Amino acid sequence: MEEPGYPLGRRALELAGLTVVPIPVDMEGINVEIGIAQAADALIALVTPGQQAPLGVTLSSNRRRDLLKWARTQNAWIVEDDYLGELQLDGRAKSALASGDGAERVIHIGTFSKTMSPSLGLGFMVVPKLVTEKFVEIAAVMLPAPNRTTQLAMAEFLADGHFLRHLRQMKDLYFVRREKAMTHLSKSFPQIKESGLGLIAFCSETVDDVMLVAAAREQGLAPSPLSSWYITANNKRGLILSITNLNTNNIANACGTLNDVIEAQIKA
Ligand SMILES: Cc1ncc(COP(=O)(O)O)c(C=O)c1O
Repeated sequence: MEEPGYPLGRRALELAGLTVVPIPVDMEGINVEIGIAQAADALIALVTPGQQAPLGVTLSSNRRRDLLKWARTQNAWIVEDDYLGELQLDGRAKSALASGDGAERVIHIGTFSKTMSPSLGLGFMVVPKLVTEKFVEIAAVMLPAPNRTTQLAMAEFLADGHFLRHLRQMKDLYFVRREKAMTHLSKSFPQIKESGLGLIAFCSETVDDVMLVAAAREQGLAPSPLSSWYITANNKRGLILSITNLNTNNIANACGTLNDVIEAQIKA
């Protein structure tokens, strides 16, 4: 799996009894060549090709090709965690691995948590024919279907074209919020970057980002420490900041509070 990568994804693999091999992510996404060198016989590659979680990069075309080729030749599975779906704030989203050649080795996981709301509790999987029955059986036993009314409402929302309109609207809104937050935080964090629906504020290696998060929580903010998304000790430090739940009117306040937390921690 990707290093850094989604901690709950990692934990899910561990709970399934799998051994996780961390594979570095660079500007092109997961480094497939290193992955093959370190774990050629892996059963599964768990990836976020659309927008890497947490760094936000999109898996390049060459890497996509190499990853699909590896899965085909090894009879391995690619688990495509498409947590942001079409919600790409910069440019157009690349098509899913599950939608092209090689899709017979791709298990695609989608969710409406980010595109709509986590409170809906709706997600979906697109699974190759070879394993459909198995997935249906496992879902029936282990994963009760979400409320049918919500499912039907969502289906109608999609069919009537409201979903696409909603996405367009939210993309514009999130883009503005992200830009505003970036402006307010760039003094405290000279190394701040856009990533998906948020920002990553990189800190120096000497900063304890877990402590920083604890201090921010006391002020009602809930960033995630970048270091906890790494398995190896060779991690980067920083804060993963979501902008989706910021209200346009309180961005300045929230960023001001975070700036104060940083200042207090650095002086301490
Ligand atoms: C990378 C990644 N994958 C999966 C999920 C889980 O989404 P869901 O809310 O559908 O469980 C998240 C949620 O934050 C995420 O960040």
